[in-house]
Amino acid sequence: MSEAKTEEVLVLDFGGQYSQLIARRIRECGVFSELLPASTETAKVLERKPKAIVLSGGPASVHDPGAPDFPRDLIGLDVPVLGICYGMQAMAKALGGEVKEAESGEFGRTDLTVVGDGGILLGGLPREQTCWMSHRDAVFAAPEGFVATAATPGSPVAAIESGERGMYGIQFHPEVVHTPFGTEVLNRFLREVAGCTSQWSPASVVAEQVEAIRNQVGDSKVICGLSGGVDSSVAARLVYEAIGEKLTCVFVDHGLMRANEAEQVVEAFSGFGIPLVHVDAEERFLARLAGETDPETKRKIIGEEFIRVFEEEARRIEDVDYLVQGTLYSDVIESGGSDHAATIKSHHNVGGLPDDLDFELVEPLRMLFKDEVRAVGTELGLPDRMVWRQPFPGPGLGIRIVGGEVNKERLDILRAADAILQEEIRAGELYRELWQSFCVLPAIRSVGVQGDGRTYAYPIVIRAVTSEDAMTADWARLPYDLLEKVSNRIINEVQGVNRVALDISSKPPATIEWE
Ligand code: XMP
Repeated sequence: MSEAKTEEVLVLDFGGQYSQLIARRIRECGVFSELLPASTETAKVLERKPKAIVLSGGPASVHDPGAPDFPRDLIGLDVPVLGICYGMQAMAKALGGEVKEAESGEFGRTDLTVVGDGGILLGGLPREQTCWMSHRDAVFAAPEGFVATAATPGSPVAAIESGERGMYGIQFHPEVVHTPFGTEVLNRFLREVAGCTSQWSPASVVAEQVEAIRNQVGDSKVICGLSGGVDSSVAARLVYEAIGEKLTCVFVDHGLMRANEAEQVVEAFSGFGIPLVHVDAEERFLARLAGETDPETKRKIIGEEFIRVFEEEARRIEDVDYLVQGTLYSDVIESGGSDHAATIKSHHNVGGLPDDLDFELVEPLRMLFKDEVRAVGTELGLPDRMVWRQPFPGPGLGIRIVGGEVNKERLDILRAADAILQEEIRAGELYRELWQSFCVLPAIRSVGVQGDGRTYAYPIVIRAVTSEDAMTADWARLPYDLLEKVSNRIINEVQGVNRVALDISSKPPATIEWE
């Protein structure tokens, strides 16, 4: 992302659980924002010529030995600073205010009272409002030269401002949806204090990235592995926009996709005219999976075979120098920061392409959050089905047949049952609300009765979860009517199934997939 053209606000991350969200909200306000570790040298931060700096919350107490300090070099500069939660406390302490452990912390929804005229950030907003808090220490006296502009029951000074020094602090979290005026407060900081005028949007990334990709790859050939998922699809589409037919996409169809999924990928990409090699490798994968029941072995086989097929195809295309990866901003942050050398996404598709693949990486999405990638996908005309696809594991249905061999018969049963579930979930307009929804086939059989005869057939388990990030998940409360319809349809329409069960476990202690 070029510094000169784009107005940028940098968030210094003190390790708070909402730090990424701050950057996302700033972007939603139309100003590009990135996260940097709070330990980044101030000179490095200033090299980027940020319009403003935001200090995030964090788990430490300002009184802990070794607690991260307010970057004192920021004092006296003309770059405005907003401290949020820990960021405000560190600022207040550094500038001579009083920060102490409060008698009781505030966690969750809290009543906030605007004090005096509310200053630039809170002036004119309702005097009584709610906000989201998560802190134990609080500011008890504002530093000299600052005015206190808000209070809550546990925070005598819940917001401070010094227009003269360009320093602002809020104890509450404006980035959380439970702070109704949070976006307004952020917007005022960005527009009125920092003077930002940009209207950044994910779509503006398209033009910028098209140019960057052209500059990076020149006349070289580029390859992209498609998984059918949103990240690789958007990345490929964007690269095609930049370099046209110098890009070749490779879609390794391992036969473990859901119903019609392979066709949809091929259709969408040929519709755009993007050169696509569709490798139908079902037989190869199933031959290697024959007789395997151990989940880790299955996973390993699928991963290895995937790499083998991909490499064969890459070699066939000849003289390829670059590989497109759908790395997202959250992967970049998790792997240690935004100015790091390219990192191969560890869980890419089927378990990672090896890093000795001799390609330079093209990562056009590495500055984007997932929801922004979706917006870019839509901007580039990708079908909704692709843009909004729920996450799907690289090893596909291979890890959803559990306790027995993965074979064609079981895959066809699972695919048919899953298609019914997807159809009803979409019809009930629940698809986007759910993090994932799918069927699992335990490789066991039980007795049932159908017509005049007894059956001995597989059960199908329905798994549907809500989640923010897959780290934790809750089982979705699907409507009974929908469950009834799905169960009836699966048992009536899918030969080989005589029972449908619902998984009502959360993660933890269960996981999302069964394996
Ligand atoms: P679990 O089952 O651990 O899954 O709760 C968390 C998320 O990761 C996805 N998942 C995978 N994705 N390759 C992938 O690309 C894999 O091998 C894999 N295993 C699990 C899972 O679908 C969920 O979204």
